[in-house]
Amino acid sequence: MANKKVVVTGGAGFIGGNYVQYMVDKYPNYDIYNLDELTYAGDLTKHQELEKKENYHFVKADIADRDTIMPLFENEKFDYVVHFAAESHVDRSITDPEIFIRTNVLGTQVLLDAAKAITVKKFVHVSTDEVYGELDFDPTTFFTEDTPLQPNSPYSASKASSDFLVRAYHETYGLPVNITRCSNNYGPYHFPEKLIPLTISRVLNDEKVPVYGDGKNIRDWLHVQDHCSAIDLVLHEGANGEVYNVGGHNERTNLEVVKTIIKTLEKSEDLIEFVTDRLGHDKRYAIDPTKLEKLGWKPTYNFETGIAQTIDWYLENKSWWEQIISGEYKDYFDKQYSING
Ligand code: NAD
Ligand code: DAU
Repeated sequence: MANKKVVVTGGAGFIGGNYVQYMVDKYPNYDIYNLDELTYAGDLTKHQELEKKENYHFVKADIADRDTIMPLFENEKFDYVVHFAAESHVDRSITDPEIFIRTNVLGTQVLLDAAKAITVKKFVHVSTDEVYGELDFDPTTFFTEDTPLQPNSPYSASKASSDFLVRAYHETYGLPVNITRCSNNYGPYHFPEKLIPLTISRVLNDEKVPVYGDGKNIRDWLHVQDHCSAIDLVLHEGANGEVYNVGGHNERTNLEVVKTIIKTLEKSEDLIEFVTDRLGHDKRYAIDPTKLEKLGWKPTYNFETGIAQTIDWYLENKSWWEQIISGEYKDYFDKQYSING
């Protein structure tokens, strides 16, 4: 029997990159195609080992480029699509929303058309808990799959729009789809513009860590490996048309996260600098993962074990993040923040 063909969009990014590695190792009888445009957030150096494997393939392409995507899908006849590719950083969406609409909305629609044209077996759309908006600080409230979508940032609005398109292609054309909505990820290869890798890299360099507002906003942190296993399960076992929330009940204030990293690295809390708050800053995210747990998913990390593993990884892989923060990222950082120390 021919190998199953899985196309993973955004497989040069943080979560897609971890997922491609997970799938290539776990399923030697699947051909895994990493389709990525290699924007500022994509890098292939992380896949040097994978490139030696016969079941890994890379295709450089823009998901919003219909003239490339349609013939690619017609030629390759993929069985499964797992769609990660996106503009993913909230702060960038506040400064420049347009690219978020092009990539996240139009790009998703092009992929849906391509998947429909070849009747794929499953299209998994990797979405986010941010589409639900924000929760207040009452610790007994959670996002469920039935929570109404109320996105607050241009990023989350673009993701919610793509979720609606995925739903519509299921309802209208019968495309077999799933939507996953995960909480904040962290772990190896997390791009240093996001809170956890930004904090680790700056603390290691004895530089100030910018904390927005009063630092009391809450995020629900999940190790990226647990997100990968959730998507694998949904790909194979998810009921067609269903949405699955992904999260492991690891709620922390931003200040708690930053202080944990500083303490682990034995540095001083004087490195914390409170800076102007993010516009429209969502107060709290927290996932109820009951539906996915009933499908058989269980995370392997809690926040303590996951953050320790992640800090070790950043210590052992300095060359990966040092080449990022010394490049065009430096201009981004200087524009985004008014601190340099
Ligand atoms: P990332 O920014 O690290 O990676 C995005 C990848 O997509 C990059 O490799 C980039 O080159 C690629 N890409 C961007 N535009 C493209 C285009 N037009 N065509 C092809 N490739 C393109 O993102 P991430 O943090 O790994 O997030 C991946 C997905 O997971 C996103 O859809 C995001 O919304 C979702 N998600 C992220 C988190 C999180 O905490 N990071 C949590 C829940 C859901
Ligand atoms: O919840 C899932 C989402 O998590 C994903 O959909 C997004 O793609 C991903 O980027 C992430 O979004 P957040 O905005 O929650 O992540 P970020 O790391 O940018 O910020 C986490 C929290 O830390 C948030 O409350 C803002 C705060 N923050 C962030 C940065 C970059 C700071 O206080 N200082 C900072 O410098």
